[in-house]
Amino acid sequence: MAIYLNNAATTWPKPEPVAKAMYDFLLSGGANLARGSASRRDLQTLDLVGDVRERLARFLGGHEKADPRYVTFALNVTEALNVIFKGFLRPGMKVVTTSMEHNAVIRPLRRLEAEGVELTILPCDKTGRLEPRLLQERLREPADLFVLSHASNLCGTVQDLESLAEVCRRHGVPLVVDAAQTAGLLPLDVASLDVAALCFTGHKGLLGPQGTGGIVWRPDFAQKCRPLVEGGTGSRSHEERQPEMLPDKFESGTPNLPGLAGLRAALVWLEEEGIEAVRLREERLGSRLLDGLKALPGVTLYGLAGMEGRLPVFALNLKSLDNGTLAGELAERWGIETRPGLHCAPLAHRTVGSFPEGALRLSPGCFNAEEEIDLCLEALKKLA
Ligand code: ALA
Repeated sequence: MAIYLNNAATTWPKPEPVAKAMYDFLLSGGANLARGSASRRDLQTLDLVGDVRERLARFLGGHEKADPRYVTFALNVTEALNVIFKGFLRPGMKVVTTSMEHNAVIRPLRRLEAEGVELTILPCDKTGRLEPRLLQERLREPADLFVLSHASNLCGTVQDLESLAEVCRRHGVPLVVDAAQTAGLLPLDVASLDVAALCFTGHKGLLGPQGTGGIVWRPDFAQKCRPLVEGGTGSRSHEERQPEMLPDKFESGTPNLPGLAGLRAALVWLEEEGIEAVRLREERLGSRLLDGLKALPGVTLYGLAGMEGRLPVFALNLKSLDNGTLAGELAERWGIETRPGLHCAPLAHRTVGSFPEGALRLSPGCFNAEEEIDLCLEALKKLA
């Protein structure tokens, strides 16, 4: 049986009701969204999708009154970020981001930079934190957008979102948050932080299936973005132009309905368990792992030294073996699954000091047992 310590890539296993909801949708639900005859099954799909939107608005919008129309679906955070960057930024505009970003942010921004968008990358410190003062100084000059990963996929460092959001608000600069690693794990309140757009994925902390995710929009910012994809929406079929109303503006083509059925079941599960309880469970496991990692001979750990201000995502190298070999040994000899290398985040590796060799990443999840953490530590000790 696998010992899965790669939850930062995708959480696994999923709660059982997630798989059951997807199976049930495919076998007995299965109607398309707003593209049928208002049969019982058509209405069930309509209710399903409306319910997922409402739950996400509650989870990420931060309050009961968050408007579910302003939650739009995408395949993942990467697609969501592309919708925003390519729908909003034009040559001559100025975008600011940080040196801890994933390639999901950096690659589309580098392309846009080549087409005339001005890109500023603010340096984070060695632990991966962006000092709000640096943003404050940069925003004395005009900027059109600030993009921030809420937490690092490499070493789990969580940014001071409240302070950074406050700086953006004071300067009237729209804030885009990449919540790939935090949605479902940390409380998020798009409305009170005045976030212009929050990009989330369903398959990590929200414990849903791959191929689900999207954007929670501030209405005025949604109006300023052009859709990346246009086409049939099941609404206003007499019009040859894409509807401006949300969510239709950003949702053309048949959505991932089995995925959304699974995501709904995951959200119900998380609400029942309580996200705070799930987070505490992960934090306990993380703390146990970190204590053990610090005691290994010849270990270099990247990012923050303690559990404060971080997720349970740990990056390390051992003197004795390169991280690729280490990951291979762990998998082959103990069935321990991790992720070595550069984690699609070369800039973040440069920032914390692990470029070009990369690092081994260990990321426990809420379904890990303490014995699995101990076994991983024993295995690492032998390899160290
Ligand atoms: N971005 C994901 C990771 O860090 C896939 O592994």
